[in-house]
Amino acid sequence: MAEELLVPTTTDRATVYNALFPQIQALIGTESDLIANLANVAAALKEAFDFFWVGFYIVKEGQLVLGPFQGPIACTRIAFDKGVCGASYSQKKTLIVPDVEAFPGHIACNSASKSEIVLPVFHRNGTVAMVLDVDSDQLDDFSEVDALELGKVLRLIERKL
Ligand code: SME
Repeated sequence: MAEELLVPTTTDRATVYNALFPQIQALIGTESDLIANLANVAAALKEAFDFFWVGFYIVKEGQLVLGPFQGPIACTRIAFDKGVCGASYSQKKTLIVPDVEAFPGHIACNSASKSEIVLPVFHRNGTVAMVLDVDSDQLDDFSEVDALELGKVLRLIERKL
């Protein structure tokens, strides 16, 4: 395994995702432990993009429970019908929220968070295993590029579930 992440010095997010993808593939490809892989994926995304908060909420005990993350401390448990994470879980789809204050029921773990994207991660049987939550301190910071490219990373995780 490489010891450091190589991140191109560009603000073009698609270019950074493209450089990152094979490195994440190599990083988690040979490791079978789920938590170790989620931890490295969160760290790689945080390091490459300097997002405000990147982490996983894992389906456990009928709730979403905080998993590996990078960033400030966060809410530990989210009900399936609460917040953007709960909405992504319930609707089984990726949600891009350009302004969290305008999202009904948004959970403000940290007031610095202004926009976010949440993507579900599926078990083979189609149920949601966890969600990836990425938060930004900028308004309107996420687009379909993030949805597509983060989705590709999550498909790597799904193969190992
Ligand atoms: N913003 C999320 C809550 C989790 S934190 O921001 C880390 C939500 O509304 O689901």
